Amino acid sequence: MAEVTLLINDLAAAVTPAGTGPLRGREFGALRVHSPASIAVASDRISAVGSPAKILREIPSGKDNESVDGRGKVALPGLVDCHTHPSFLGDRAAEFGLRSSGAAYEEIHASGGGIRSTVAATRAGSEGDLRSSVERHLGWMLEHGTTTAEAKSGYGLDRETELKSLHAIQDAGRRSPMDVYPTFLGAHTVPPEFDSAAEYVEFVIHEVLPEAAPLARFADVFLERGSFEAPEARRYLEACRGYGLALRLHADQFSERGAIPLALELGARSVDHLEATKDEAALLLAQSDVAAVLLPACGLFLDLPLPPARLLADEGAIVALATDFNHGSSFCESLPLVMNLARTRLGLSPTEALCACAANAAHVIGADDVGRLAPGYRADVLLLDAPDWRHLAYHLGGDRLVARIKSGRVL
Ligand code: NIG
Ligand code: FE
Repeated sequence: MAEVTLLINDLAAAVTPAGTGPLRGREFGALRVHSPASIAVASDRISAVGSPAKILREIPSGKDNESVDGRGKVALPGLVDCHTHPSFLGDRAAEFGLRSSGAAYEEIHASGGGIRSTVAATRAGSEGDLRSSVERHLGWMLEHGTTTAEAKSGYGLDRETELKSLHAIQDAGRRSPMDVYPTFLGAHTVPPEFDSAAEYVEFVIHEVLPEAAPLARFADVFLERGSFEAPEARRYLEACRGYGLALRLHADQFSERGAIPLALELGARSVDHLEATKDEAALLLAQSDVAAVLLPACGLFLDLPLPPARLLADEGAIVALATDFNHGSSFCESLPLVMNLARTRLGLSPTEALCACAANAAHVIGADDVGRLAPGYRADVLLLDAPDWRHLAYHLGGDRLVARIKSGRVL
């Protein structure tokens, strides 16, 4: 065994998604529970998880390794938030208030507010402002147990601000203990200086994408009335794929307009939202390798219909969960809260919710070495002070995390 640098001793339990890769069909929700348990870490990796006596026997003696007392605690893998928009400036508290007097999210967007108001505020700030904003938002996520996150641009929508946003995400990721996976959301909506979506997409492809692509891993588009229809989404995604970016789609949030067939045809990594997805498209998706990313905090925030979560899970889709963190449609950075909503609103079980926020979310962003507590995986570990691991989802908005360990480092 490689030299052990950290020991997490005498845990009541260590709970992890079972197996390897994404869990779907009958395997979705499969957990491995070690109880009692200790975890041995060598540098940034887990080297062993098992009974305290067995771990003690296996640890090379006489070494001074750091240790954490796990008595009365449950260990879980660091959570993975595979869909977030943390790179923004400005504030939309007034818009949040307005919606209580009947103004719909889509109406506010159509009249130039919503995403476009964030775009105006984001363009007005410096790269330093934006980096501080991303860092602050990553810090909030980490408090709630997220140790790996995807992060989208998409509130610049001009060359300078989109690049500024991707640089801010990269810099904030380097300064944060978290691992951050940047996404170029160049096709979030049509900014006010363009008359048509088609014209804007040509601009993005020619003037922004060549410099944005090396700064990102994924490309994303908001395929929705009022933003981009399927032909423009296809044009944008194909161009992004040509630069080596993996593809994601904001799909079927308010209306079904061909996002799922397009995602399947282009071999996208995921389709996200799905509140308006009907059974036929859900079945197609379930039989494919394109993941279904559900965002129940956004659904709650905007009072949307529920996505067909149970159908997707039962028919074998790769189901992941994420916060959709942004200040317009889902001002929520807590995956434990999302896990609660998955149970209470989407009909998923706590075990399915954990798989969806850990192993399956990791699969969506291609982070194959996180999302499980198992030898060889990155040592991203949460300690929960509760009698049962399900308290992570069960305690509504009250996650009792007492320690976060990222890449073998106690934070
Ligand atoms: O995923 N739907 C499009 N984009 C974001 C919302 C952006 C905003 O309202 O600022 C989302 O919900
Ligand atoms: Fe989103």
